[in-house]
This record gives sequence, C-alpha cells and structure tokens, in this order.
Amino acid sequence: MNQDDLKRSVANAALAYVPEGQIIGVGTGSTANFFIDGLAQMKDRIRGAVASSETSAARLRAHGIALFDLNDVSELSVYIDGADEVDGRLCMVKGGGAALTREKIVAAVAQRFVCICDGSKLVDTLGAFPLPIEVIPMATAQVLRALTALGGTPSVRAGVVTDNGNAIVDVRGLRITEPEAFEAQLNNIVGVVTNGIFAQRPADVLLLATAQGVRTMLR
Ligand code: A5P
Repeated sequence: MNQDDLKRSVANAALAYVPEGQIIGVGTGSTANFFIDGLAQMKDRIRGAVASSETSAARLRAHGIALFDLNDVSELSVYIDGADEVDGRLCMVKGGGAALTREKIVAAVAQRFVCICDGSKLVDTLGAFPLPIEVIPMATAQVLRALTALGGTPSVRAGVVTDNGNAIVDVRGLRITEPEAFEAQLNNIVGVVTNGIFAQRPADVLLLATAQGVRTMLR
C-alpha cells in the first residue's frame, strides 16, 4: 500500500461516521479530498456540507454536494478532516494546507471531530512538523519577532495567501510538550489570527491508516 492507498482507505472508513440526512463539516487536504470523493457516492443520503476552504468547497460543488454557509447552520453533528501531526491525546497540528482558521472554526461548531490520517502522522510529541500560524499581513514582522523570542524559528510561507487574505508563518524547532497552554499563548500574540495547534478542541475519534488496516483511537 502506498501513502495514497492509506489515505483513501482511512477516508473511506470515515464514511461510516457520516449521519444520514444531516449537514456535515468537511476539511481540507489530500486525505480530505479522498473523503470528499467517497462522500460523493452517498451524497443523496446527506443534506450537504460546510467546507473549511474554498478548495474543498470547489471539490464538493463539482461532485454536486450542496454547500452551506456556517452562519446558516445551527449545528454540525460531525467534522471530518486530516492533520499534519496527531498525538496520543488526539491533539493535532494542522494547517499544512493553509486552511487552519476555517478548519478551527468548523471544528469548534461540530459535536464530533473525526480525524483521518495515515499512520505516519501519529507522534509522541507535537512540533516536528513546522507549526503553521495565520497572521494579519501588517503584523508579520512583529509576529516573527515574538515567535523567535518564544524559541522557534519562524519563516513566512512564500507565495501563500489564505482564504481570509492573510499570510502563513511556519515555525520550526518547536517541541510542544504542553499543547493547550502553548495554543493559548500563541493566540495572545497581537496579529496572530489562529495557530495550527488543535488542543483546546482536539479530535474525538482518530482513524489511523496502517498497512494492517484502519485503527480507531478515541479520546
Ligand atoms: C489543511 O490546512 C491541513 O490542516 C490539513 O488537514 C493537513 O495539512 C493534512 O493534509 P493531508 O491530508 O494532505 O496530509
């Protein structure tokens, strides 16, 4: 099995978590893309989806899946998305695809977060994957200084503008031993819109694709 096979298998396993007749939250990235393609096979059994990015919205639309604005939806039973890293407590680093802010918003509304990953994403300690941070453009230099003072090595992701019109800063050299506290600390830097630590709202279910099959971990 190659990595795409693993991503496809875990994306298909997540279809079992899609409730009939409801609107669901849909994430962003290559694993989420496999999920969207699988969802298309059962699109007549759901009302529609809220997308966490313009890219995912376009893919859902192309499959004929109805799209909803989050402001028009009173509740979301489930949000299904990938991650860049996930630990044993189901805290995650996300935002490799630059969609972290909308992902965090949709995840916050959802009653249940089902994270879908291949086995390489499971780590003991978060931080080996450069931590994405969405930043208001005029604050970029000030945020870079603040992140350096915290011990990281930040750099602006070249050529990337988020769906919200902002920049992405990736922070290398971190070892995130207290994800919840560090998530809050980063949010306090003026000019930071969102950081890619999902610890205050971790996943509820982790589906992890391995060569032996899809493993399920619960929080
Ligand atoms: C998008 O911004 C990210 O949070 C993705 O969920 C994450 O990067 C996982 O992407 P892949 O499924 O492509 O690895």
